[in-house]
Amino acid sequence: MAVLRIHTVPGDEAFLRQIAKPVADFGAELKALAADMLETLPATGGIGLAAPQVGHSVRMVLIDISHTGDEEHPGPEPFFLVNPRILSGTGTAGLAEGCLSVPGIRVEIPRMGEIDVEAQDLDGKPRRFVATELMAIVIQHEMDHLDGRLIVDWAAKGCPMYREEDMPKDTPVLD
Ligand code: NI
Repeated sequence: MAVLRIHTVPGDEAFLRQIAKPVADFGAELKALAADMLETLPATGGIGLAAPQVGHSVRMVLIDISHTGDEEHPGPEPFFLVNPRILSGTGTAGLAEGCLSVPGIRVEIPRMGEIDVEAQDLDGKPRRFVATELMAIVIQHEMDHLDGRLIVDWAAKGCPMYREEDMPKDTPVLD
């Protein structure tokens, strides 16, 4: 396992802008990438990580909101979504999203508050579930990365942008 380099703008912008390729091979290479992403994420303080952010332009994301709960209601264990799709969504949710690939700023992005997600696990087994609130937001943020979309694109469309240094200290960076 290895801690991978987080790709950031402006240097890695061309790479981050690619449309990531669907995963077709669920073999050892994918498992090795997953292991590296699992080792990389805790070092960043983020709650999600998309494969393109660590230099692999494939449709896989890691979600880890395990430390966002409290003792009685811990968050779910970290999990991977491979080839994720949002089948439908309702409601609204939003927070000032930080991105490991776009250091120094936050953008308040309007997200769906509840999404119906279809994806595969690391073995290619299909799964379908409903995500709400923070989990819904982080999944939508990570899926933006798979389509080469960054938080600055939302700012360009008029979403409020803040400087990281103006944010309250305990607000988590998404990824
Ligand atoms: Ni991000």
